[in-house]
Amino acid sequence: MTDQHDSVRSAPRAIGSFEPPLRTLMGPGPSNVHPRVLAAMARPTIGHLDPVFVAMMEELKELLRYAFQTSNGTTFPISGPGSVGMEACFVNLVEPGDTVVVCRNGAFGGRMVENVERCGGHAVIVDDEWGRPVSLDKVADALDAHPEARVVAFVQAETSTGAHSNPRPLVALAHERDCLTIVDTVTALGGCPVKVDEWEIDAVYAGTQKCLSCPPGLAPVSFGERALQRVQARTTRCQSWFMDLSLQLGYWSAGTRTYHHTAPVNALYGLHEALRLLAEESLEAAWARHRRNHEALVAGFEAMGLRQHVAAADRLPQLNLIVVPDGIDEALVRRRLLDEHDLEVGAGLGVLAGKVWRVGLMGETCREKNVLLCLEAFENALVSQGLRLSSGAGVAAARAFLASSR
Ligand SMILES: Cc1ncc(COP(=O)(O)O)c(C=O)c1O
Repeated sequence: MTDQHDSVRSAPRAIGSFEPPLRTLMGPGPSNVHPRVLAAMARPTIGHLDPVFVAMMEELKELLRYAFQTSNGTTFPISGPGSVGMEACFVNLVEPGDTVVVCRNGAFGGRMVENVERCGGHAVIVDDEWGRPVSLDKVADALDAHPEARVVAFVQAETSTGAHSNPRPLVALAHERDCLTIVDTVTALGGCPVKVDEWEIDAVYAGTQKCLSCPPGLAPVSFGERALQRVQARTTRCQSWFMDLSLQLGYWSAGTRTYHHTAPVNALYGLHEALRLLAEESLEAAWARHRRNHEALVAGFEAMGLRQHVAAADRLPQLNLIVVPDGIDEALVRRRLLDEHDLEVGAGLGVLAGKVWRVGLMGETCREKNVLLCLEAFENALVSQGLRLSSGAGVAAARAFLASSR
């Protein structure tokens, strides 16, 4: 027998507790978390099958139905980030050989294509320029060319481009052609209208770290009747054990509550509190807050002579793409914002890398004071690189807009 102590690696003692700096998170997510959500997450962990916890799960489902504006019984948070919500929709609704029309006007539409292909489906890609909404006409053409299509999938709020695509006409068109719809609302939920029942969306997923003022790690989903019928009518077994809806519902259905996986108990306390905050504020007020602060931010950047990447009618209030002026080092600006103002903004992705900044105004971050902080910090960083700006013009324009819209 060997001496076990010979093989024990020594404990790393010099590692202290991790103390993150206090940042203002104005990137593409995560955004700042409301203190009430953080406090809720610090409460004692209890069992994920404890009757008290189970009662909280039912409240959470009710709160999510409010956020999604749906009466769908199958509305719950999947344990995992938004990507798991995306994957859950595709693995349950796409079978090998299925044709799926996927709208790709940014990075996340591209991930939908990957999902379809990994499910053994055939993706018919409808491409639109990054920064433009999904074109209804192009989707109609794709459906004309592929009458066998069974699903249409698109992203409502493209976080990589700042463009909004209106789900209502896209869903109506898909239904005319007997297709189900999968809609990504990761960045949309809580920041702009998402009306699952009124728009008749069949399957929808979101994330917690954007406009819900909650940390990352959970993926709220909702499935309507047509989607559930499609799941029941499958002729092949869902290839994912974890995301198989019938197994997930064993835990999340009020009647069953059997063990599926150990739910992230404290993260669910946090989402419960975040959704309570949203209900207290009301969806309409949250949408109006995002729109008003967005308009103040745009007024400020325009007064500084900086352009938006997305046309006014298609802009997301919660995610603003600012075009990098000629001669400016965009990475250096982000570095200065972080080092000197504890302010995080995002870089451009894919074809927009180096060309834009992505400035988020989501959830708890979406406050007047952050609009003003951001404009002031940008002015400092741009002036330090030699850009000639009229001092304080951005902040003054934003303040004037805010004062006129009280
Ligand atoms: C539109 C969109 N879809 C999906 C995702 C993936 O979410 P997560 O990073 O939580 O997996 C994101 C994340 O930024 C997103 O913005």
